[in-house]
Amino acid sequence: MKFLRKMRSKKLYVYLYYFLTPLVLIILSNLSIQPRIEWINEYILIGGANFLSFKWIKDHVKFFKIHEQYFWTYAATILLAVAFFPLGNLLVGHYGIPVFLGVILVAALMGTESGIASAITLSTVAAVMSNNSFDLFAMYIVSSITAIYMVKNFNKRTDMTKVAFYGSIVSVIMFFAMHMDLQFISQSGTNILIIALNPFISMILVLGVMPYVEYISRIYSNIGLLELGGLSHPLLKELSIEAPGTYFHSVELANMCEMAASRINANYILARIGSYFHDIGKMKRPEFFTENQKGFNPHDSMTPIMNYLVIISHVKYGVKMAKEKRLPLLVEDMIREHHGTRMVSFFYQKALAENLNVSPDDFRYPGPRPRTKEAGIVMLADSCEAAFKSMKEINPSKIQNIVEEIVNRVYNERQLDDSGLSLKDLDEIAQEFSKILSLRMKTRLSYPKREEIEKVIKIAN
Ligand SMILES: [Fe+2]
Ligand SMILES: [Fe+2]
Repeated sequence: MKFLRKMRSKKLYVYLYYFLTPLVLIILSNLSIQPRIEWINEYILIGGANFLSFKWIKDHVKFFKIHEQYFWTYAATILLAVAFFPLGNLLVGHYGIPVFLGVILVAALMGTESGIASAITLSTVAAVMSNNSFDLFAMYIVSSITAIYMVKNFNKRTDMTKVAFYGSIVSVIMFFAMHMDLQFISQSGTNILIIALNPFISMILVLGVMPYVEYISRIYSNIGLLELGGLSHPLLKELSIEAPGTYFHSVELANMCEMAASRINANYILARIGSYFHDIGKMKRPEFFTENQKGFNPHDSMTPIMNYLVIISHVKYGVKMAKEKRLPLLVEDMIREHHGTRMVSFFYQKALAENLNVSPDDFRYPGPRPRTKEAGIVMLADSCEAAFKSMKEINPSKIQNIVEEIVNRVYNERQLDDSGLSLKDLDEIAQEFSKILSLRMKTRLSYPKREEIEKVIKIAN
């Protein structure tokens, strides 16, 4: 156990991955455990490609720094894809090696950069399997990188078909470019057909495998996020019954966050789904949160410290529910981070008014601060929406002022330092929030007073 803990803390498993994976890939691709002298050459080629590509994403793709799960899923996907290689090779030859299977899966789950890294490793394995064929390496790497780069975001199932389509076209073009011999080409009809179909078959396999990989890893593609995070999700249905105020707040927030994320080219699907679930923990004690109260406030009879503990517990319960229901890791992060390490200032002020000996740090959320752009947007929208609801007099310029003030305050509190949001992003987010809230102003009509209703009834009678 001690060894395992030490290994984990020093990330020794990453080094094991660098050294052992090439060996496993060689065994899988050769379908043999009988060592041969060629293995040295194969080990250097596959090991080099795997080391460089993985090191690059480990250092550059943020998710790999936040969650170990990204490492394990990436490694497992590479191994899973290579396990299918001998099958393709045996059935239809070198041109049937399903490189696209791993590339599409990694790109859909972890983004284009990770997809490109997997393309480097997998194309090298495919080339090594085919007697170090440079032609094959060039064909696989150019076609797969071009295809995922052209689609970039996998937001719909049809985007998968697009990747397969581009992959197929580019592979065939690469084949023609490398064999400028009409006689050879005229005899290669079957190979061209295999090359053209290979990405489509990989795509079908990806569609079959992806939901299981998503469920096990809790790393979701945008397609998986959309399927999971519709308003028909059992947790959201429960929220709408247990805490209707929080439910409506979450839906309003989802619209604001989606628009703002889309404006700054962040992941708008993640922003929307994260907003739906961000306050899910309020379901445990809904009556303690303003949006669900109808006159009676149970906080009034409690001490400020108790008030504070009840308020921050919605984050803890939310995270617990996210784990239990296997919500995506990034959604769990948004639940945990949407208040960052901000202060519950209302109850801090109450403690001061009661002359209690407290410091601001006694009234902070446990954090951490938002670590993704999308989590940062949810934090900002949450505060802006609450302020908008409490505004007595509203007009577009007042809304703009309050939104800018809140964004500045959160920025100055250094809550957004780890989110990756730039000042330009913040400016655009503030503009977008002001626009959406100004539009909502028209629907926020004040209810008529009781006497007015009675007057109308009297006239009607
Ligand atoms: Fe919250
Ligand atoms: Fe909220």
